[in-house]
Amino acid sequence: MCILAPTPPIVKGHLDLRVTYAVVYYSTIGLHRLVQLMDPVLNPYSPGAGRPPSALVGRDMQRQSWQVALDRIERDRTTQPIVLYGLRGVGKTVLLSEFSRCANERSWIVARVEAGVGKSLREALGEALHGPLTDLVRPSAGKRLLRSLKTAVSFKASYDIIGTWNFGLDLSDVGGGGADTGLLETDLLKLLHDVAAAAAEEDTGLAILIDEAQDLGDDELAALCSIAHTAGQDSWRCVFALAGLPSLPRILAEAKSYSERLFSFQPIEHLEDRVAALVLTESAANENVTWDPDATEHIVREAAGYPYFLQQFGQDTWNEAPGPRAITLTDARVGVARGQAALDAGFFRVRWDRATRSEQRYLRAMAADGDQGSGSGEIATRIGRKVTSLGPARANLIAKGLVYAPEHGVVAFTVPGMADFITRQPEH
Ligand SMILES: Nc1ncnc2c1ncn2[C@@H]1O[C@H](COP(=O)(O)OP(=O)(O)OP(=O)(O)O)[C@@H](O)[C@H]1O
Ligand SMILES: [Mg+2]
Repeated sequence: MCILAPTPPIVKGHLDLRVTYAVVYYSTIGLHRLVQLMDPVLNPYSPGAGRPPSALVGRDMQRQSWQVALDRIERDRTTQPIVLYGLRGVGKTVLLSEFSRCANERSWIVARVEAGVGKSLREALGEALHGPLTDLVRPSAGKRLLRSLKTAVSFKASYDIIGTWNFGLDLSDVGGGGADTGLLETDLLKLLHDVAAAAAEEDTGLAILIDEAQDLGDDELAALCSIAHTAGQDSWRCVFALAGLPSLPRILAEAKSYSERLFSFQPIEHLEDRVAALVLTESAANENVTWDPDATEHIVREAAGYPYFLQQFGQDTWNEAPGPRAITLTDARVGVARGQAALDAGFFRVRWDRATRSEQRYLRAMAADGDQGSGSGEIATRIGRKVTSLGPARANLIAKGLVYAPEHGVVAFTVPGMADFITRQPEH
């Protein structure tokens, strides 16, 4: 029998404690009991891609170095462009969002793009700059701003012959333009130079943020390195931050050999236990809910400090907990079980299903080594094929973002726990 009883909201302080009712079936004693579950509407956890957490914890070093970079640029000092790299779900995108927020707060010109979503870097950056430049347009616009608008118009024309920008100002007597030679490095250099000069005139700066940078083309990576190099040498009011998979530093080094000295490389990894526990407790504290210490310990251990899993297990625990004020170890155990089932059905399953049969064979051969990576030769031996004949499967898996090459001749999964998931899948 199922009893669902509606209830009026309980309002305590400014917190709306609308409670949900559910029936819990106690199989051992055969009774039904009506219990309150925590309100899912107030659930503060947010597993997903780039979903901002209600508490962004840790990452103090990266946030601090970004603030220092902005401060330095504002004082006409140079700063190294930043590269955030790490596995999927560690929090690179939410950090870039935080970088963007900080720069916006200072009224900087911010262009944020994601590579690998079907647009060239030229088009993505051109479009990303349109909005911020439009916001600066005013009758009293300074000479450098006008110049940057004219250059942006020419840059737009370089990738879109039909569309044209009109900033509502007569730019015919203004200098600038010419960012339409068709050579990416030349055009982008001109655009970013002029926009950074406009930012200086406005006494702010220009921030270029690029997510999934490992998906940029070779020419795009080379152009970016070269422009960032020039920006540093000539003290432009411009800062770059790139985010991507752990292969990004190697990919940048292959694009330009001086990359290793050009960028500040910052690994983004799992959170240490004490900080990982804060992901759970700080978010809940905002809703006046506490976690028992053994409950957080259980989740932190099961999630291995991995932010995506912390959010997933936190979300499922909250939704399963009777509450209303405290989350216990029993709740955490139920939440982890639900969370793991959800990860298997979504997070891991989606990745597995994206691989073809022969790619799945490749992944299965990798899974024998766990999450730490496998040599291409060893994989070939396990499958009973030559390394060269497996090249296409390997390349496709990298292109699909399922594996990456930490070094030459080695591949590893882009998400933790994938090896375990694969070993649980039945062989065809
Ligand atoms: N420092 C953090 N504190 C709390 N939660 C975090 C933190 N970093 C990331 N998260 C959460 O982890 C999840 C993954 O974050 P995000 O999408 O930024 O990872 P990512 O590294 O960009 O992954 P991908 O490589 O798949 O794009 C999100 O649900 C986010 O809210
Ligand atoms: Mg991301």
